Parts: sequence; structure tokens; C-alpha cells
Amino acid sequence: MSRAIIRFTIRRGEVKIATISDLHLDINKDYPVLDVLKEEVEKENADYLIIAGDIYEDFRNVIGEMRMLENGASFRVLYVPGNHDLWSPEPHKYKVDYIYSSFCDDERCLSGKYVIDRDVAFIGDVGWYDYSFGNHERFSDEMFAKMCYMGRTWQDSIKNPWTRDNIRRCNIQLEVLSNSLDKIKGKKIVAVTHMLPIREFTVLDARPEWEYFNAFLGSEKLGELFENKSVSYSISGHVHYRKEIEKKGVHYICPCLGYKSEWKFAKGHEEDLTYHIQSSLRCFEL
Ligand SMILES: [Fe+2]
Repeated sequence: MSRAIIRFTIRRGEVKIATISDLHLDINKDYPVLDVLKEEVEKENADYLIIAGDIYEDFRNVIGEMRMLENGASFRVLYVPGNHDLWSPEPHKYKVDYIYSSFCDDERCLSGKYVIDRDVAFIGDVGWYDYSFGNHERFSDEMFAKMCYMGRTWQDSIKNPWTRDNIRRCNIQLEVLSNSLDKIKGKKIVAVTHMLPIREFTVLDARPEWEYFNAFLGSEKLGELFENKSVSYSISGHVHYRKEIEKKGVHYICPCLGYKSEWKFAKGHEEDLTYHIQSSLRCFEL
């Protein structure tokens, strides 16, 4: 059941939205990610900062850090959990359903609710994967369900029991998102998921292992849902790319900060946090 949160605002006109994903505050702990992010979002004069998951591998810190980020800021923070955020901070200490319900109870997390401000509605959740982005000419669903290939194991299979039936979990997430979308007709919709809704954002380079591991990046049914329900903007993360495309009436944005170890690909900016925040942060008005 989705709960509505209506934001009453004294601002008029269009809603200005800043988006980013995959902050990985624990992995990027040597850098003042939230301080620089706050400064950049303030400069953009945004009403909202939307974060599409993978914030901290400890749900308690995700909730606390998002509250701190909003404290004293001129913008509101909304986020969805990523797959890393759903891992138990100490193995087996917390069940995934407890972690997920803690996110549903957090007012800044879009899971289980929707937010309306002026003509804009925000919905979102982690989303999940159903193998639809894997190469089905080479692999069967049974092979994808093993979540292990060429000696590499997809970590969710160890750390999240949802992976015992990924297709069922994906269908549950699709239903949750669909129910929220049905409640907000007539609004300009921003849909936020950690998982990818379109194949174009998956790993399409020549590395053969990704014909397998793309299976765990999202679901084409997410994109179909967003097209059918007239979503204006889809924000997703997970793949650590910075990309955007327009497709069948939906503007898809993947604005990932990613791991510090991945910043080395930007020659001359390997240690430059401000550069990477500015490169990944994507702002628009609705
Ligand atoms: Fe990530």
C-alpha cells in the first residue's frame, strides 16, 4: 500500500530537481562526498535532490546520513535503496525484510510511498532484476539463477535472500511501483529505481562475462511500465555509468558517482571529487 506525502511549498513555478546515484559513502570514505554534493546542489538552487540508491552498506547510516544531508539545506532529499543498502551491515544480524521495512518507514525514502509537489509526483523503489538483460541465447534462467559465472559470484546471492527467487521479487517490485503510479495520474512523474529499466544502460562492451552479469542489472519490464504509465523522467543507477537517453516518451537518466577506483578512467581527474560530483549530478526542471 502506497502512502502519500504532500509537500506544501511556498515556491511557485517549475520544480527543480537534482539527481545522482551510487554515492557509496563507505567505499568512498576518504572523500567528503556529502559536503561537496550539498554545495553543488545548493549552487543549482534545486528544490529536491534525488538519490537512486547504493548510499551506504548499512541501512542505519543511510537513514542517518540522508537526514544530516537535508539538515540546514535549501533542498529536500528523496532516495531509494540500492542492492548494497539492503545488505546486512553485520552478516545475518538483520533480515533483509527488516532492512527494507526500515527504509519504507523513513520519510525521505520513496519505498512504499509517493511525494507530490506542485505538478510533480515522485515515486520509486529499489526495483529488481529478472534476467531479461542477460543473453538468453547463451544462458538459461537456471544458469542465471546460480548467479555465478567464470569464477565470479554476484554478491547479492550471498548477502540477500531475495535472490532465491529473483523473478518473483522483481514482480513484487513491479507491482509496488505500478500501484504507486496508478495513484498519481495527471502529474508529471519522476520514477526512481536503483535497477535499470532499459537495456541501453547495461554493459554493452565486448567483455563476454557481461552477457551473463547484465542479467542482474534490472528489468525491461520496468521500462515498459514507465512507458505505459506516462512517466516523464526515469532515474536509475547500479551500473556506475553516467548516461541519459530519450526513448518512447521517457527521459532516462543514469547519474552514477561510482567507486573512487573507477574515477581513474577520467585522466587528470583521478582524485578530483568535485569534478566527479559535477559530472554525475544531473539537474532538470519540471
Ligand atoms: Fe553501486
